[in-house]
Amino acid sequence: TARYAVFGHPVVHSLSPRIHAAFGSQLGIAMEYAAIDATPEDFATALAAFADAGGLGANVTLPHKERALALCASASERARRAGAANTLTRRDGAWHGENTDGLGLVHDLTERRRIDLRARRVLMLGAGGAARGTAPALLDAGIDELWIVNRTPERADALADALGEPGRVHTRYWDDLRNLGAFDMVINATSAGRGGSIDLPFTLATKRTLAVDLSYGEAAVPFLAWAEAAGCEQRIDGIGMLVEQAAESFAIWHGRRPDTDPVFESLSARAG
Ligand code: ATR
Repeated sequence: TARYAVFGHPVVHSLSPRIHAAFGSQLGIAMEYAAIDATPEDFATALAAFADAGGLGANVTLPHKERALALCASASERARRAGAANTLTRRDGAWHGENTDGLGLVHDLTERRRIDLRARRVLMLGAGGAARGTAPALLDAGIDELWIVNRTPERADALADALGEPGRVHTRYWDDLRNLGAFDMVINATSAGRGGSIDLPFTLATKRTLAVDLSYGEAAVPFLAWAEAAGCEQRIDGIGMLVEQAAESFAIWHGRRPDTDPVFESLSARAG
């Protein structure tokens, strides 16, 4: 059987094996999809061993996405712009890198939630891997302004520079958050929720502000609790993006995009 895997550290909680298995049975495509835990030191060796054992494709999650891109012989423009790859495909004896996170987010917002992203003033909190992976797709989807605010301001500036759209992309200091007014959409792309708290002013949101956390489960709780307290009526966690980025990866590997609704529903039900 064709072999696929997700690499991460840790990886035991990854939902990708379950998602890809569900897609495979839905479309009648037989394959094996494993979760492989590799430390940053071991990642390159583990990936090479997987290729030697016949591995055809790999998803890559924290903390390996940047390293994964560096190990690719070729990569899509999207992956290069993100500086990170989450989807690796074996081609001519080498890895080809893609990044499906941004498309996954935009797909979730526009197709599942029917949100019109055009003319949106968007605040992106964070400038790490999650922000870099999704910001280009948001700009491509036609948002009006992207404001990037990061605890370490140099990383926000580096991301803005990499995006190369000074007319639409602005950076501010974390301390400026209280002076920025309200946004149409606030995206939490920080990993602060994993540490349990995030401190944001309520002036960033109105009840019509769409609040999006790119993480899910416990990690999304602090930001979404803030959004609820700020009055945001629409609050979204990263489960939809997770399922959609997986569907994009699946389509790259197997040539067909699965119906994501049943998988999304079963994962949402489980997440409560
Ligand atoms: P990921 O791939 O999840 O984005 P990352 O690349 O390590 O992981 O980036 C983590 C992001 O969360 C960064 O933007 C980080 O801010 P710094 O660049 O200043 O480190 C942000 N972050 C982590 N903990 C945070 C906290 N407690 N408050 C605000 N931002 C935080």
